[in-house]
Amino acid sequence: MNKITAAITAIGSYVPEYVLSNQVLETLVDTNDEWITSRTGIKERRLLKEEGKGTSFLAIKAAQNLLEKAKLDPKEIDLVIMATATPDMPVASTGVYVATQIGATNAFAFDLQAACSSFLFGMSTASAFIQSGKYKKVLLIGADKMSSIIDYTDRATCIIFGDGAGAVLFEPNFEGLGLQDEILKSDGIGREFLKIEAGGSILPPSEETVKNKQHFVFQDGKTVFKHAVSGMADVSEKIMERNNLSNDDVNWLVAHQANKRIIDATASRMNLDESKVLINIHRYGNTTSATLPLLLTDFEDKFKKGDNLIFAAFGGGFTWGAIYLKWAY
Ligand code: UT7
Repeated sequence: MNKITAAITAIGSYVPEYVLSNQVLETLVDTNDEWITSRTGIKERRLLKEEGKGTSFLAIKAAQNLLEKAKLDPKEIDLVIMATATPDMPVASTGVYVATQIGATNAFAFDLQAACSSFLFGMSTASAFIQSGKYKKVLLIGADKMSSIIDYTDRATCIIFGDGAGAVLFEPNFEGLGLQDEILKSDGIGREFLKIEAGGSILPPSEETVKNKQHFVFQDGKTVFKHAVSGMADVSEKIMERNNLSNDDVNWLVAHQANKRIIDATASRMNLDESKVLINIHRYGNTTSATLPLLLTDFEDKFKKGDNLIFAAFGGGFTWGAIYLKWAY
């Protein structure tokens, strides 16, 4: 029997309706459309405004979109991996709730958190379960309600993030399609530069932490930017070298959308033509775990069976990496 590889066989996504434009942000903080566009490439983001709805709402919508498109009975799903940095609540897995709500009653589920690399690390995890022969249908969902952890008076962060969700189904493939190789990295020096300081076990919530706004994302943008540029470019170049891929061989770069300048630097190191670099940062900003699957659904009709995709991400922690995948349909 041929070796089992893990292929993406279906995808789905969801973004909330409310659009937060640069023009609206100009009324909230001291910023302007020109600065945001030239420094990040972002024009607008989507926000989940309805009270009482969390990341699971986004995740369920994305998963249902996939189930409908693929005409898949959710009872066939073996495992649901929920990649998110903004779970519904600190304890009680969001993925477990999502799995039950979508009718994946024969699956087990868990959450996976690696900041903006959550989905990329989830791809590796989902693929490993498939390649081992253990499970046949693994649903990986990436969803984040970033607006729940952003201070809309802090111009260093509120211009960047948005809410969204995407889902992909991994299944065994016997034609050699799907995940080919991966380089995943992490380095704990990163946690000082991108974090939510309070609300965890070191600094539990208190009146003081709320007053000091320590439950919101803090980012030293400049430092993260430097690490992101070198980190993402390094692993993307390395995975090409290791798999003897020239720039002609790579069909698409599916890169985390945190800043257009970081994506451009990665594409430039890979010597890739602009037409191969998938971009939707102008529409959604940085949606953390949802970014990579949102790119897949936005550009799904461009992919052909056998196309070589390089996924790349960089996030808090620090966490980063690249995955080489052959498109399967
Ligand atoms: O996805 C997880 C990983 N995260 C990332 O990859 C994000 C990485 N970092 C970045 O994308 C960028 O660092 C930012 C977009 C966050 C900031 O861009 P930057 O080019 O690094 O700007 P900066 O922080 O160095 O600030 C440059 C100037 C400063 O003014 P002075 O000191 O030069 O007078 C800031 O005060 O721009 C000012 N500034 C702003 N001006 C208008 C900072 N934020 C804003 C703003 N609007 N929103």
